[in-house]
Formats: sequence, C-alpha cells, structure tokens
Amino acid sequence: MKAAVTNDLDRRALAILKANDQGGYTVPTHGLYPFQWNWDSAFVALGFASFDAERAWREIETLLAAQWEDGFVPHIVFWKDDSGYFPGPSVWRTRRHPATSGITQPPVAASVARWLYEAQGEAALVQVRRLFPKLLAWHRWFHECRDTLGKGLVLATHPWETGRDNSAEWDRPMSAVDISRVEPYERRDLMKVDADMRPTKENYDRYLAILQWGRDCAWDHRAIAREGPFRVVDIGMTTILLRADRDLLVLAELLGEMEHADYLRKRISLAEAGIAFLWNDDVGAFCSYDLVAGQSLPYLTSASFLAFFAGAGSASERARLIAHLERISGKARYLVPSLDVDHPDFDPIRYWRGPVWAMVNFLVARGLMEAGYPDWAERLRRDTETLIAGTGFFEAYCPLTGRGTGGDAFSWTAAMWLHWAREKNQ
Ligand code: DGY
Repeated sequence: MKAAVTNDLDRRALAILKANDQGGYTVPTHGLYPFQWNWDSAFVALGFASFDAERAWREIETLLAAQWEDGFVPHIVFWKDDSGYFPGPSVWRTRRHPATSGITQPPVAASVARWLYEAQGEAALVQVRRLFPKLLAWHRWFHECRDTLGKGLVLATHPWETGRDNSAEWDRPMSAVDISRVEPYERRDLMKVDADMRPTKENYDRYLAILQWGRDCAWDHRAIAREGPFRVVDIGMTTILLRADRDLLVLAELLGEMEHADYLRKRISLAEAGIAFLWNDDVGAFCSYDLVAGQSLPYLTSASFLAFFAGAGSASERARLIAHLERISGKARYLVPSLDVDHPDFDPIRYWRGPVWAMVNFLVARGLMEAGYPDWAERLRRDTETLIAGTGFFEAYCPLTGRGTGGDAFSWTAAMWLHWAREKNQ
C-alpha cells in the first residue's frame, strides 16, 4: 500500500518540476514566485537529477549565466518580466542583462555540484570543469565583500539574502531601518497567499527601504557592506558557505586546481575558528549577530542546527544543540520548526517564524548524519516524508498540525521529495 502511495507522490513531484520548468530554469511556484531564485534552483537541480542528469546541471548553469563580472550571483534572475511579482526589475534597477536583483542568497550551489558529481561520476566532469571557475568566483566574492570581520563569516545586507525573510532574528536590526522615504508600493504576494502566512506590512516597508538604499548607491556591494542599514552576520549563510567551501575544495582537488585548493583550505580554517564568535552561550547555540548594534541575536532557529552541516562546533556545543532538538521534539509534532517553539515570537504558520521547511530539514539531516547522529537524521527525513505525504508539496508546513503553509506545488519541496524525503527502498 505504502509503495503505491509513494509512487503517486513521485509522479506528483515530477509533474510539479515539469510544470514549473521554464526551459532551463525553474520557478519556485507559479504566481507567487515567477522567476529564477538562486538557492531554489540549487535544490531543484537535486530533484531533476533523479530523472534527468543533464537538466539538473542546466539549472545551475542557467543561474550562473546571470553572474556579475565580480563573481556576485543575484538572488533573483528576471529572465522574463512578470507583473504578478513585487518588487520586479523596475524596482531593483540593477541595469543588468538579464535583469537581476541586487542581493545574493545562501550559496548551496557548490555543495549541490559536488553531490551531482558524486552521483554521476566521470560523466559529469565536463560540467564540473565548466562550473568550477564560476562557483569559485562567487565564493571569492563572499570572502572579499562579505567577510567584513575577517573571521570567515558571512554578512547579510538584506533579510531576503538569508532566505529566512521574516525570521525573528531580524526584528531588532530591522527596527532600526529608516522607512520615512519608502516609495509607495503594492504587494502582490497577498493576492496568492493568506496574509497570516506572510511577512507583515512593517516587514515589507523595511525590506523596501533596504532595497532602495542599495539601489541609491548603484548596488556598490562594498559600500553596502560597509554602511548599509541592515548588516547582520547570518548563521545560516555562514554555515552554508563554510560547507560549500569544503565541497568546492573537493571539486578543486578533483580538477587538480591545487592553488585554488590551498586558497579554499585557508578560508575553511579561518571560518572553522571564526564561527566561535557566533556561539551564544545563554541560548546554547550558534546565533546570528547584528553588526550595526554590535549584539548577538539571541534566537534558536532551524539555521542554528546547520552547524552540523558545516562541520562546526565543539563536542559540548553539539551536545547542547542536540539537547535543544530533544526538547523541541517533545513539543512540536514535526521537526525542525524555523523558530524555537518555546520562544514567545514562535508563530506556527507565519513563514520563517515557525513553519518547517523541507530543504532546511535536508541540510540539517545531512549534517546530523555526518556528525554521527543517524537517528536524528532519520527522524527529520521521516517527518518531512509524513508532511509531504499528508499535505502535499507546500512551501512550508505547520510544525504542530502538519498543515501546508505559503505557496503550493512548490519546486524545492518536490525536489526534496525526489532526492531525499521519500523512503528509498520501495
Ligand atoms: C519574496 O518576495 O517573498 C522573496 O522571499 C524575496 O526573495
């Protein structure tokens, strides 16, 4: 019986990827997100890999085709215009072809490239060789433009860069952003998704104010990193880049790029030591840090558990993270909620303030498995499987009831099903 259910879900997941495929890139979901999104595409490539190896590589190649000369890779590529999304290219005004946003997103692409290569072997060397210089240039851009503390960490200059748009972590740094000059705008997301599952109007005013600031300085990324209104060292991007540097190093060694391999080793050592700066002993977790106010942001979020994925943390720090997982698992039916269930700001359906995200579960589970916690890794896989099987392919899920939240027919959730969440030996 279960096999039949799984086969049906396989078919639905495939159908979602095919329906969202625009020929070379995939929209996260029609309507709500009608362009190519950076980290969405990386996860989506893993889904395509389960039935079309070439198409998987193409997803990443298309994303990197929009790379800027200095290595920066934008968070949205507007291959075609679509008035159903706000803020579109006429708001970002980056003056690029193709049109893009002016901010980036968590760099998961190098890790995905490594996994695709490992699954496909020698046949994929051509693609690895083609992508390596672009991935390296992007990582260098992070190292040079976003490691303002010189500790191997990653500065985010807009909440949208972190991918966790309205995480409670950003409340305090966002509250200091001046919104007095925000131009009038009309949101389009609320025409597609319930308002109680989306960021608030106050959030949007501040997102726009930060965007306008970047636009006013012609997307000079060094100036934005130095003086922008939102400057936060993000635990999510930091752990993802550390892990991606490790995966890129494997590819550098594979290609015999020894000079680049040495460079990456240095960056990895720097970050391994530097991440201690983000440990918040009161919370008992790695946390983001507000550079403008010079304060740790004391929130335990699902991104804190990406320390395992990054191979970061001492034995005692890892034990404290596992103790949190244990505690949260006693309260939430499904792991891993995007904000600690015991935090007063926890909201089980509002975007990144509580809901469970399949691709975060995948990264955390992978880290847990590698760190020697296979039972927790399997728990996360099973929870993700149950959520998808019970509710469908939503953007995210309520950790208490399993209800789907945000957009439906979502590409990265379908991809995570095909790549990881479905029980393999059916
Ligand atoms: C949005 O528009 O909600 C996106 O998350 C921005 O990337």
